[in-house]
Amino acid sequence: MRLAIVGATGAVGRELLNVLEDRNFPVDELTLYASSRSAGKTVSFRGETLTVKETPSAAIDADIVLASAGGSISKKLARTWSSKGALVIDNSSAWRYDPDVPLVIPEINPQDAKNHNGIIANPNCTTAILAVALWPLHRAFKASAVIVSTYQATSGAGAEGMNELLHETENYLNGKKPGGSVFQYPIPFNVIPHIDSFQDNGYTREEMKVVWETRKIFGAAEMKISCTAVRIPTLRAHSEAATVIFEKPASAAAARDVLASSPGVKVVDDPANNLYPMPLSASGKWDVEVGRIRKNIAFENALDFFVSGDQLLKGAALNTVQIAELFI
Ligand code: A2P
Repeated sequence: MRLAIVGATGAVGRELLNVLEDRNFPVDELTLYASSRSAGKTVSFRGETLTVKETPSAAIDADIVLASAGGSISKKLARTWSSKGALVIDNSSAWRYDPDVPLVIPEINPQDAKNHNGIIANPNCTTAILAVALWPLHRAFKASAVIVSTYQATSGAGAEGMNELLHETENYLNGKKPGGSVFQYPIPFNVIPHIDSFQDNGYTREEMKVVWETRKIFGAAEMKISCTAVRIPTLRAHSEAATVIFEKPASAAAARDVLASSPGVKVVDDPANNLYPMPLSASGKWDVEVGRIRKNIAFENALDFFVSGDQLLKGAALNTVQIAELFI
């Protein structure tokens, strides 16, 4: 397997290298690309030192290209990278809504990966973390409406986002006014209900990504979904509070049973012992934690639950590598 990573020096790119190592992905040849700024830097992989190259604007000679360098470069170049037969698994939002491009979470719709035309899209991190927990419940009880609020880590804005949280917190603690440029407002000790651009309908694009992508991955064009996406000052795991209205009778106990035997999720739901999902416990884990599962008292036949999942792993690098594993 000849593999290339585009964006290898970024927050997701570095996790891609870790995940490939940890999952013993069979790599015969690995080429690392980033911007011209990083060309010549070295990175170690399985004890070998690899030199980062500038990302080409030509076909990439590899079997699989894992791309995580942002939407604009993927939009411009992914077709070219794949033009000599490479499969591009793209982590940006550039191709997710293209009807010819499968959008895949291997626990949910691995069959869609087979219908690619050179590009497969990896979903948005918030969508992926919610979807692995929602899918088994949807299969068991048929979800008709989903209302979700998110608590999203700074890693969603890449390595720069995480650095900004650390630097600006340090500034704040040293008596300086926190500033920063990655987020719309200072992120330390703050909560910002604004991720990506505002749309005509009053939602942000990040919120609409959850709607569009969940429907596409589930093959459920009619599913009613409403999301409020919020940035919080954590480093790398996103959390989400969901209320789901079901068509079939759904109890909290039955939901717990369904989730306990579902791939990609770990039920952490023991309130008597203060056990519930949290970003700190979900960070670095492959599974998404699900808990606080309870009957919703405002709607008929609805459940509430809380998920926390590593934004850089299931929300990005892990899912990308899992897609690649479908082609081993
Ligand atoms: P570089 O480190 O050289 O800037 P993150 O999501 O953490 O911000 O990382 C983005 C990744 O995408 C980095 O590896 C970054 O490389 C890479 N990248 C950003 N812009 C470009 C570009 N125009 N061409 C190629 N790679 C890019």
